Order: sequence, then C-alpha cells, then structure tokens
Amino acid sequence: MYAERVLSGMRPTGRLHLGHYHGVLRNWVKLQEEYPCLFFVADWHALTTNYDSPQVIEDTVWDMLVDWLAAGVDPAQATLFIQSRVPEHAELHLLLSMMTPLGWLERVPTYKDQQEKLANKDLSTYGFLGYPLLQSADILIYRADKVPVGEDQVPHVEITREVARRFNHLYGREPGFEEKAREAARKLGTKRSRLYFELRTRFQQEGDEAALEQAHAVLEETQNLSMTDRERLYGFLEGSSKMLLVEPDALLTESARMPGLDGQKMSKSYGNTIYLREDPDTVAKKIRTMQTDPARVRRTDPGDPAKCPVWQFHVVYSDDATCEWVQQGCRSAGIGCIECKQPVIDAVVAEQEQMRERAQPYVEDPTLVRNIIADGCERARKLAQETMRDVREAMGLSYS
Ligand code: TRP
Ligand code: SF4
Repeated sequence: MYAERVLSGMRPTGRLHLGHYHGVLRNWVKLQEEYPCLFFVADWHALTTNYDSPQVIEDTVWDMLVDWLAAGVDPAQATLFIQSRVPEHAELHLLLSMMTPLGWLERVPTYKDQQEKLANKDLSTYGFLGYPLLQSADILIYRADKVPVGEDQVPHVEITREVARRFNHLYGREPGFEEKAREAARKLGTKRSRLYFELRTRFQQEGDEAALEQAHAVLEETQNLSMTDRERLYGFLEGSSKMLLVEPDALLTESARMPGLDGQKMSKSYGNTIYLREDPDTVAKKIRTMQTDPARVRRTDPGDPAKCPVWQFHVVYSDDATCEWVQQGCRSAGIGCIECKQPVIDAVVAEQEQMRERAQPYVEDPTLVRNIIADGCERARKLAQETMRDVREAMGLSYS
C-alpha cells in the first residue's frame, strides 16, 4: 500500500512551551508512528518577519530541535531537517511564483492580519507576501498528503491545493498522455484494470464521487506501480493531465487548547508560559502564583472552576477522579486553591522530568543533534530532488 506522507514545519522564534507541546508536538509524536513523517525547522519563514533580527534564528534553532527530541519526536521514525539546508525549496518557490496570481497571495487572511498585529515591523515586503507560497513549496516538494497544522494555517494549505491544481493544469499535459495512462492501466492486471475504467466512466459521466474514491483505493492497493505511472493513473481519472504535484489535506490538530497561566492562550508575547524543560522549582512557583477564580478571595469563599485557568490545566493533566475532586471541593470551598494546584504541579513536573531525561544526551553533546539534522537533510534532499526533476521538465527547463 502507498503510504501517505505527512509534513509539517515550525518557525524558530524562541523557546518552546507547554502550548507547543500539547498543541503540536504531542500530535507529531503520535503521527510519526502512523505515517512516514517529515518535520522541519522553517528558518526562512522566520526571516520573513525577523529579517531585521536574524540572530534569533541561530539562537533558537538547536534548542528548538532539542525540545522536539525531548518531547519524543524520534529521528529513527521521522525525518528531521532544516529548510534552508534543502535549497530546492527555494527553487520550487521561485518557479511557483511564475504562475501564482498576486491576488491569491493578497487575499490570504494571515497577510493583512499579521501586518496589523506586527504593526511595529514593516511587513510590506516581497518575502512576506510570498510566505504562503514558500509554505506551498515546502509541502509540494515532498508530495505530502497530510499537513498537520493549527487552524490559523488552514488557508495556507488551501492555497497550496490551488497552486498544485493550477500547476497540474498548466504543465501536466505530457505528450501522448492518454496512451501512456492506458499503458499504465494495463499494469494493474486485467481485473483491476477493468474496474479502474468502469469507475473512471462512472465518475466522469455521472460525477459519482464514490466511484472516484473507490478508484483511488484500487490504485492505493496496487503495489507494483512506479510513481510516474501512479500519477498518470490518478490524473487520468479526473481529466487528461498528469498529477505532477499532489494536493495536500490539512490535518487539523485535535488538541487540548493549552491555556496560559492567566487563562489566555499560552504565548510568549503574553508572558504566561511554562517552558519545556523548566526546572521543577520554577514550575511549582509559576503554578502556585497562577490566577484563580477571582471570586475566591478568602479560603471560605466557594469558587467556580469554569472561571479559573487552573481548572483548564486539570482538564489537560488530571484523571476523572481528580477533576471530580476539584469540582466538588472548589464549589463547596472544601479545598483551598493551593491544595487544588498541587496535582497540576505534580503532573507538569513529572511530564517535564521525562523531557529533561530525553534531552540530557543532546544537551551534553551538541554534535548529536547536528548529526541527526545532517542525516535528515540528506534524506529530505533526495526526495526534493526527485520532485524538482519532474518540475523542471514540466516547465521546460531540462533542455540541453
Ligand atoms: N507557517 C507555519 C507556522 O507558522 C510553519 C510552516 C512553514 C509550515 N512551512 C510549513 C507548516 C509547511 C506546515 C507545512 O506554523
Ligand atoms: Fe481554581 Fe481550584 Fe481555586 Fe477552584 S479551587 S478557584 S478550580 S484553583
């Protein structure tokens, strides 16, 4: 079976905190067991907003990678690399820019939003407008099927799909395509091939989406197809062009929204974070001084967990029995806030203990992470180069 490929990236902008862990990294750790995964440091993307302070990048890249490893991202399962060390991303970005209408980029909601939010920076730059297209190149160059992202990034995956579709439409018409597709279909075997054509007709003449899906399943089950033949057969189902680039799906991270110490979203800019690999005393101190339900002024005042950020930590960290104990104890003033916070402190410290242990060898010997990345970049680059060969050929650049 053709294994779907997962790809995601993270910008190096500072130390990671529990929000990153519960929002992103835990999900990556789960995915790496289910799919071939590529995870990368989006250092060029960091430069789109930090072009005036590039020091941040080198200050944070390696620490961020140690945080990934500490969280359980496993270089034996997933490919870890750095965007700028696979320069093919830049080449694809450039080539895609030739055919991407300006309006598509101007209409991406993050463009105006971020410009307003980061009003202290001049973001009317070419690079910043191209941010989503660079992201498209990141995704398309690996023919990734699934892109785990938060909600804010969904428009970027959407534009990636449009770019892929336009690219396939413009450049996917190889000479003799139909013949080549029919030839590829013969490689499916008599029975499968007949089914394939039947399903294709049902989809093309009756618009039967289920037939299309079933045909995709037939192709997925077939093992002995080359990448090129597989793409021809996918393309032939829907029209007459070859699927050179794959339209990815966003994989919305279903994750507990990790609140910050003040109940707002956890974020460095709000100063309400608990970092990964923070020492236990600091964790305890941060949680002990955390806000609680403002109605509980005195120990004897009953409270409402729904109005308390500590409760949201319990939702993430505590079992049912503990949650019940909090609900009861808070509403009846049976427990005090310090008491209520202790199980959260214990759980966060225990979680971090494991992370500090995992990180230890990488902290002691920085060459370990350098080697993991060198290895990952090499693997990623091979995949990227394969796609670029097809892209250059399709765009008329492999002449001699
Ligand atoms: N823009 C993403 C973010 O800020 C990071 C990113 C860059 C990314 N390239 C990507 C995510 C490709 C997924 C796929 O979170
Ligand atoms: Fe919050 Fe717990 Fe205090 Fe209730 S008892 S206000 S849930 S910290």
